[in-house]
Amino acid sequence: MIKAENLVRKFGTSLAVNNISFEVKEGENLILLGTSGCGKTTTLRMINRLIAPDSGTIFLDGVDISTRQPEELRRGIGYVLQSHGLFPHYTVAENIAIVPRLLKWKNEDIRKRADELFHKLNLDPALADKYPAALSGGQQQRVGLARSLMVNPPVLLMDEPFGALDNLTRISIRKEFRALDELVKKTVVMVTHDVQEAFEMGDRICLMDKGEIKQIGTPEDLLFHPANDFVANFFKEQRLQLELKSVPIAELLPGYPDQKITVWERMEQLLNVDQAADSPENLSDNSSNSPDAIHIEELMRAFSAYKKQ
Ligand SMILES: Nc1ncnc2c1ncn2[C@@H]1O[C@H](COP(=O)(O)OP(=O)(O)O)[C@@H](O)[C@H]1O
Ligand SMILES: [Mg+2]
Repeated sequence: MIKAENLVRKFGTSLAVNNISFEVKEGENLILLGTSGCGKTTTLRMINRLIAPDSGTIFLDGVDISTRQPEELRRGIGYVLQSHGLFPHYTVAENIAIVPRLLKWKNEDIRKRADELFHKLNLDPALADKYPAALSGGQQQRVGLARSLMVNPPVLLMDEPFGALDNLTRISIRKEFRALDELVKKTVVMVTHDVQEAFEMGDRICLMDKGEIKQIGTPEDLLFHPANDFVANFFKEQRLQLELKSVPIAELLPGYPDQKITVWERMEQLLNVDQAADSPENLSDNSSNSPDAIHIEELMRAFSAYKKQ
């Protein structure tokens, strides 16, 4: 869907992006990960032509984007920013209607699509007539996402979309975003400096440093097969949690019904189950031999056996 070839971008004499190439498949979530100043935002903004590369080419669906009208190009590319980017003097409803109005959608169609997104994003319909300042950070971020999804663009670019939120809001909102059917189908490129976020949201991660790509691959690739010392060191501190987030349950429990979830997600499920099990009606339910009955300790044992392999 997206193919970037040998992108270079300088600001003055400093190289913000130094000859990088990558591809994003249709429906994939690619995370641009790295510390502040490594060139993530510059890379992202070259994809919707907010920044022009000094050299190199980006293809979208096989077409060189430099041959397209920027405005027309951007209609097919949603863009979500850290500071939601809502206009303060427009109501929420007016904010999310901006692009559909430019496209001359009927009022009724705008309202229908807005209702649908409000519902999917767990936004109270009463917020539609409020101004952005009256909303919480999490609500503003949901509205920002709703706005970017209104005309259903096939590609979505997100720059630190959870960066302005407190830690708890951020964890729950990114879980929700990940499960959203509207996002599952889309080709997404997301920028973050948060390693845990990258591992939770990314099909693949592109780890950058000083304008260069250090490695691009699945979370498992980066953790278990780091291409160089930089990559290995980058994940050192948070290694255990990242490993649990990167290994699919299928590799430990081949019979488990939901093969896509990670060991980490399975542990979260077990913790919830354990809470529910405290109630008396669940006490007799511990004898099952189904994979669901596996305990955290067993899971950890299976996980260390897996790691030894
Ligand atoms: N408009 C600009 N003018 C001058 N320097 C810039 C500009 N935008 C980015 N840079 C520089 O380019 C480098 C990469 O920036 P950026 O892509 O924003 O990094 P990141 O998003 O990874 O934090 C940084 O050194 C930054 O200071
Ligand atoms: Mg940035």
